[in-house]
Amino acid sequence: VTDLKIGIILGSTRPGRNGAQVAQWVKDQVDLDTRAEFEVVDLADFNLPNYDEAIPASMGQYQNEHTQAFAAAIAKFDGFIILTPEYNHSISGALKNAFDFVYGEWNNKAAAIVSWGSVGGARAAEHVRLILAELQVATVRAQLMFTFANDFADFTTFSPNAGAAAAVEPMLDQLVSWSAALKSVRENAEVAA
Ligand SMILES: Cc1cc2nc3c(=O)[nH]c(=O)nc-3n(C[C@H](O)[C@H](O)[C@H](O)COP(=O)(O)O)c2cc1C
Repeated sequence: VTDLKIGIILGSTRPGRNGAQVAQWVKDQVDLDTRAEFEVVDLADFNLPNYDEAIPASMGQYQNEHTQAFAAAIAKFDGFIILTPEYNHSISGALKNAFDFVYGEWNNKAAAIVSWGSVGGARAAEHVRLILAELQVATVRAQLMFTFANDFADFTTFSPNAGAAAAVEPMLDQLVSWSAALKSVRENAEVAA
């Protein structure tokens, strides 16, 4: 039994997205691990508009109901698995917008990255690391990258390569370790505040 909660952030929102299949596969894999509870956060469910808060998110004064709902959804997690597509050599606009919308709810947590694209979404994954540094999220080294050549049939049916499932556990080892460790950073920050 654990009280560690990991959110699986599905970063593509378009109709027919491959990301939905990747999210389901990741959820099925991680659910075998008893060290944390895992929940998919589908950004499409939040219908966030383009960022529309008057006060920057880092001030933590969210005015809009959609922002408050998204903040509550992110706040409850100790760590994240960020699922990102690669659009024009970066992450989706939807995922960047979601990162921008709230701030404190991301801080002092850990994240692992899963990406897909013609070169495994590698360029998007690197951008996730840069953005999360500013959000004070520690990204673990181990990551999963899925290519159209090896992991999708006809660019649309997710059929991960034989080694993919075995790569999940080492990634979770790092994510669980850092997510647990950063809890104490958040607790100390609350004492200091
Ligand atoms: C607007 C757009 C831009 C894209 N740019 C890239 C790209 O730069 N590199 C890449 O590997 N794939 C690119 N693709 C292909 C995506 O990797 C592919 O559509 C993938 O399935 C996207 O994830 P999704 O289906 O979950 O939206 C692009 C797709 C879209 C829709």
